[in-house]
Amino acid sequence: MELFLDTAQVDEIREARDWGVLDGVTTNPSHVAASGRPFLEVVREICALVDGPVSAEVTATLADEMMEQGRLLSRVAPNVVVKVPATREGIKAIRQFSDEGISTNATLVFTPAQALLAAKAGATYVSPFVGRLDAIQHHGMELVEQIRRIHDNYSFPTKLLVAAVRHPDHVVEAALIGADAATLRLDVLRSLYEHPLVNIGLQQFLDDWARIPNAFRRYE
Ligand code: E4P
Repeated sequence: MELFLDTAQVDEIREARDWGVLDGVTTNPSHVAASGRPFLEVVREICALVDGPVSAEVTATLADEMMEQGRLLSRVAPNVVVKVPATREGIKAIRQFSDEGISTNATLVFTPAQALLAAKAGATYVSPFVGRLDAIQHHGMELVEQIRRIHDNYSFPTKLLVAAVRHPDHVVEAALIGADAATLRLDVLRSLYEHPLVNIGLQQFLDDWARIPNAFRRYE
């Protein structure tokens, strides 16, 4: 399963990259605005930091303008994935990007029908926003299961990328369902290895170990 960081903060990306488990990055217009940096500059820097795919989102709403923005983004670095909202215009653009060999991430996916269209149009990734569905009392993971089945039924090569992830259980459920990827904020990525029993257990081992004199002295 690919794990992506969902941010445009390069210091966060460096930190996660140094753990050795980061496969890529997803950004969105809100992330870029929060970074306070010029869009293309920050995308270029992120692409240089990570080997894997880096999603950068178009902000046009018409297919032709999405194409212009997406072509520009795809020239920033070879690992750019053009992120396109799964609207009618977005689906049209995804089809054209796919015909031009430009990778895409269909974003703002809230229904299985959107995911089906995005896959048919040739999207590289499709991103269901599970946390936003949960927040309005829908079941984000049900959508992930439905998309998994649809993709498998028709052997679509489109990768299922779980987005708007809020907690470790979302990641585990996504993995159990067989999602290809999940994109997480740094705090959620950190929480994957945090557990109170780990801290308690480690402290106990260290306390016991401290009672052994010269535990690492060379055996002779
Ligand atoms: C996905 O690629 C999006 O950037 C992201 O997951 C949006 O999630 P949010 O609901 O945390 O903004």
